[in-house]
Amino acid sequence: MANVRLKRITKKFDQTVAVRNVNLEIFDQEFVVLVGPSGCGKTTTLRMIAGLETISEGEIYINDRLVNQLPPRDRNIAMVFQSYALYPHMKVFDNMAFGLKMRKVPKKEIKKRVQKTAEILGIEDLLERKPKQLSGGQKQRVALGRAIVRDPEVFLFDEPLSNLDAKFRAQMRTEIKKIHDSLKTTVIYVTHDQVEAMTMGDRIVIMKEGLIQQVGRPLVLYNTPVNLFVAGFIGSPAMNLIPCRLFEESSRFHLGMGGFQIPLPDSMAHDLTSAKGKDLIFGIRPEHICEKGADYHHSLDKPAVRAEVNAVEPLGREISLNVNIGENSMTALLSADTEVRPHQNIDLILNLEKAHFFRNVEEGGEAII
Ligand SMILES: Nc1ncnc2c1ncn2[C@@H]1O[C@H](COP(=O)(O)OP(=O)(O)O)[C@@H](O)[C@H]1O
Ligand SMILES: [Mg+2]
Repeated sequence: MANVRLKRITKKFDQTVAVRNVNLEIFDQEFVVLVGPSGCGKTTTLRMIAGLETISEGEIYINDRLVNQLPPRDRNIAMVFQSYALYPHMKVFDNMAFGLKMRKVPKKEIKKRVQKTAEILGIEDLLERKPKQLSGGQKQRVALGRAIVRDPEVFLFDEPLSNLDAKFRAQMRTEIKKIHDSLKTTVIYVTHDQVEAMTMGDRIVIMKEGLIQQVGRPLVLYNTPVNLFVAGFIGSPAMNLIPCRLFEESSRFHLGMGGFQIPLPDSMAHDLTSAKGKDLIFGIRPEHICEKGADYHHSLDKPAVRAEVNAVEPLGREISLNVNIGENSMTALLSADTEVRPHQNIDLILNLEKAHFFRNVEEGGEAII
């Protein structure tokens, strides 16, 4: 049982500021995912929590205890790395038992804990093997097992699934979540993969260049990104982000972008009044574009736009279209039975009630609605 609190944490390596003024509270038993592109400061943050890296400024509390000066072994934390970091000359059993032996846990107790953990992970049959006799997935389980046997208050995971192939990754995601549910510990999980973040996190923390961009539940981030970076990072295929301008004509707001214009729903006018005449970024997710007539409820009364199809990608459950609308290229996810070929024209409905507007990058990229 543990909560973890980061208070104005900064980490500098000479000239590089790896983590900037990070404030974050992680609750007891929560599964929090730190996500962001390579180099944004995820590993450094995790290493500071583990005590493997000194803190330049700020305070870290574990269970309301200041741990800045506490060595790693006294923090009751276990870390799982991407590069399994198993001891090659030791059998699986000894790899898992190592940390307990160091802590002088009685032999009988060690055996019991390793056995039980091996059962949870389905690796009972591998205990006598050496790491080189294991597949990547099996090694990852052993690394996980080594952390679990220690019965820590907080698990730190640093991209633990990055070395696994796609199918196995999906399976391990589910298993790690299950283990979290049964052990009821606090987990801080680092990944650069937004799908992992969306599927695993109770809450997600998105970082960029050492700064937290947004913290929230997966769907909150998905539906209400606070800025262009979050909007573009979360979601696959990514949100369409197109430069646009808003103008008023016959007392209605219109959206104009690269060679076409479209009236906006009156419900949006109020929030957009201050943005009239400004250069903005229009954001719409691919699933909020549909074929005219395909979805009666959505497309009724809504103005259609003519699009030229560039590429068609059947994904099974749906098709992903790359189209030109005016001078801009966009991605749309349409129902799988849509009959369409490259170079054809198609009439599309943009579900503008679901659209986002952002200030442009030079102005900080914050969301307006
Ligand atoms: N030991 C180090 N010495 C100097 N710079 C470092 C060190 N570790 C990390 N950095 C720098 O700090 C930044 C954040 O790195 P890191 O936390 O590893 O990012 P991430 O895990 O998100 O990919 C990067 O610019 C990286 O080059
Ligand atoms: Mg890293």
